[in-house]
Amino acid sequence: MVLINNIYPKDRQRLFTNRKKELKLIEYNVESFLKTGLRKHLVLIGLRRIGKSLIIYEFIKRNKNKINISYIDLKKTSMEPQYFATDYIKKVLQWSLKTKEEDLLILANKLNNEKIFEQVNDFLNKKTKKNYLDQINFAFSFPELLSKLLNKKIVICIDEFQDILGMNRYKGIDDIIDIFRTHLQSQSNTFYIITGSVITTMEKICLDDKSALFLHFNKIINLYNFTKEDSFALIKKIFKQEQLSIHVKDILFTLFKKTTGNPFYLTILTQKIIELNKLFDLEIDENLINKAFLIELTNKNSRLYNYFNYIFENSLEKARGKASLKSVLFELAKEQPDSLSNLSEKLNKKSGEMRTLLKRLIEVDLVIQKQNKYLFRDNLLRKWVALFYLGINIEVTSSSKFINELLSQFQEKYQRVSTELGRATEYEYKVKLEKKLNIKLNNYNKNNLEFDLVGKKNNIYYIFEIKHRNKPANYKDVKNFLEKVEKSEFKKIKLFFISKSGFTKQAEGLIEKNGIGIL
Ligand SMILES: Nc1ncnc2c1ncn2[C@@H]1O[C@H](COP(=O)(O)OP(=O)(O)OP(=O)(O)O)[C@@H](O)[C@H]1O
Ligand SMILES: [Mg+2]
Repeated sequence: MVLINNIYPKDRQRLFTNRKKELKLIEYNVESFLKTGLRKHLVLIGLRRIGKSLIIYEFIKRNKNKINISYIDLKKTSMEPQYFATDYIKKVLQWSLKTKEEDLLILANKLNNEKIFEQVNDFLNKKTKKNYLDQINFAFSFPELLSKLLNKKIVICIDEFQDILGMNRYKGIDDIIDIFRTHLQSQSNTFYIITGSVITTMEKICLDDKSALFLHFNKIINLYNFTKEDSFALIKKIFKQEQLSIHVKDILFTLFKKTTGNPFYLTILTQKIIELNKLFDLEIDENLINKAFLIELTNKNSRLYNYFNYIFENSLEKARGKASLKSVLFELAKEQPDSLSNLSEKLNKKSGEMRTLLKRLIEVDLVIQKQNKYLFRDNLLRKWVALFYLGINIEVTSSSKFINELLSQFQEKYQRVSTELGRATEYEYKVKLEKKLNIKLNNYNKNNLEFDLVGKKNNIYYIFEIKHRNKPANYKDVKNFLEKVEKSEFKKIKLFFISKSGFTKQAEGLIEKNGIGIL
């Protein structure tokens, strides 16, 4: 069983680019641990979506046959201690035994060792009790137990390590980092590679001399954006995957410049250009890149828009004083870098208060300080804030009117494509409904009246309205349907309204009143 392919599918493997230096460093340190026992635990730190997880996946893919490596993603793990402990042990066993088996006892049984089986069984029996500390202690000691049993050193990769702090809220666990450190220190067969995306927090965990892990994770690998050459290489790979080729330097360079070489942004923007090119037959030039960029940043269905919206709201949620923090960010979006005194003046705040606000923004990685001036950590996020909240396009000199026009122009075209998609979906419904109701159904279009599907059974007409949209059908949708039916030739009828995203409250009322079926 190749577990890595589940989290790192083959098509993504093919796009992997660059990171030679980082992978070499990881492999070098792991090899010297395997040979000499020297443990220099590694930590990968970098902004969200810079490619931390991908490096770990790539390392596992390349070394899975010679080294016992486990991967635990704390983003996908509950921080309730008993669940965390179970998941931690389970993941270590699944990776070590190369199986997807979910049952902890079955997993433990596969080890053919009575002692470990008993220990796991004991752990499971006590799990309902709130002895959190015991549970966590058992989980953290498990990799070493296992490695001794298998007589094979073990490498544990913990992704999004900073999330572990979520356990500090639970009874009996005062300092989870210190508990982790105690285990790490007493082990000799277990090597750790951890990653973290909240840079400020990770630095506190690993570099602050007050932190329990200070000096234990002293090999820090900082991840940065791609260089120009690596960006070009990634873009070309994405084009190749779509059976297209691109060699025009200007285009490659514009893409690199717009995304500042962030591999995630680069991937999204390149894919968008290819999509626009294929859907609308538009030539790939600078103009198209500009359009794709604006669409990605402003269109609510776009991946980048949604990503920035999530990051922005989520980061602010974590810090206190959301409204004031937003005002500071808006000022920086308009003009940066800016000084403390300038910002205080602009927002009419005392400098002490402004300092606190900036400190909070730094803690959630939205802002950094450089020589007494403050600026966004991520320049693209800044552009998004400027565009979305302030309607300013810092990049191209254009007004929000221009953007709106541009978007509506594209939306029109999208509309056409989505109508075509709608037809296809209608057909799928037709097939399913015909089978379910044992009736022949067809699209109806007569005297300017259109129904998605109509059929006749026992002298009754079955009329269907289908809305395959991402928002609930509303009162007006249902009313329109009823009015259409009213005008039609059909008298003995049974009505059905099918909506992919459900109905609004008012729509539900109307549906019920008129005895419309909703399947
Ligand atoms: N070396 C790379 N080669 C090709 N694409 C990459 C590379 N690194 C990152 N990417 C692109 O960026 C995306 C994000 O990468 P990844 O998930 O590894 O980032 P991350 O730093 O772990 O993010 P998060 O903080 O959200 O966990 C990938 O899905 C991929 O599209
Ligand atoms: Mg990640």
